[in-house]
Amino acid sequence: MAPAVARERSTLTIDIGSFAADVAALPRLGLGLGLRGTHFDHILTERPDVEWFEAISENFMDSGGRPRYVLDQVAEQYPVVLHGVSLSIGSTDPLNREYLAKLKALADAVTPAWVSDHLCWTGVLGANSHDLLPIPLTEKTLHHVAERVRRVQDFLERPLILENPSTYVTFIESTIDEPDFLRALSDETGCGLLLDVNNVYVSCFNADLDPVGYIESFPCDRVVQMHVAGHEHQGTHIIDTHDRPVVPEVWELYRLAWQRTDGASTLLEWDGHIPSFEECHAELLKARRYMGGQFNAGRSHDVTKSGHESLSTPVDFLVPNVMESAVSE
Ligand SMILES: [Fe+2]
Repeated sequence: MAPAVARERSTLTIDIGSFAADVAALPRLGLGLGLRGTHFDHILTERPDVEWFEAISENFMDSGGRPRYVLDQVAEQYPVVLHGVSLSIGSTDPLNREYLAKLKALADAVTPAWVSDHLCWTGVLGANSHDLLPIPLTEKTLHHVAERVRRVQDFLERPLILENPSTYVTFIESTIDEPDFLRALSDETGCGLLLDVNNVYVSCFNADLDPVGYIESFPCDRVVQMHVAGHEHQGTHIIDTHDRPVVPEVWELYRLAWQRTDGASTLLEWDGHIPSFEECHAELLKARRYMGGQFNAGRSHDVTKSGHESLSTPVDFLVPNVMESAVSE
């Protein structure tokens, strides 16, 4: 399918380039799972009844071996989207043209429904933190990121879909709320948005913000896709671990988000201690219980603290050569 549909937006005076996301024209894919190596054999042999898959771009752009073979097989049978973790759209480093060329080649070959990454930076001065780091939300950073989004879209010749990150700090320099920042970014560039409902819950808890208010103020008309995932609650803060089932509070937020996005495509992220395919799929299908009904914001959180601090946004699902490669020029 061809997601790169240019659209006239008469209310805008800013040049949003030729690759604005026509959100209404993009498909509603239903419920999808991340394509993870531990499930490759099961997927190829069983052809499970999953509506779509999300592939981590970096796991396949350098590989001509089995991972790429599996992705090609999957892309023949299922809708696929590409989700990146190394674009570093918020960095002050130059855009990495080598990375973008590999991403474009992969996207041109796989023809995903769309290509996404995060509103974050992952490195600077050529170093890769392998983490999704937050940026101050100001007019200055908005224009910085918007300029880079436009250049990425022009390079890829397709719209970019950007995700709200999970965060653990806020910046005293920030002057714009994250939903407003993403709305302005989408208006300025035509990019679509990926609403990670678990990230909303994590970030809002860590910053003492209201997650319901966040979703109610989010530009849901620009949302192409949603994520749900599990996290680790440490009592004073939450770590976005993607290594366990989704908590009921996030599912309740998902109910609200599903209503406000008019049923955007939904993906379960499970990236650490990945269980069997059937268990991941069963967790994903819980989403069906929350597609409708009355939103209930009053549930209390069942906090089960573990005795250790886990890593946020785990990258152990990345293939080794991705871990070793620097992101920037
Ligand atoms: Fe996510």
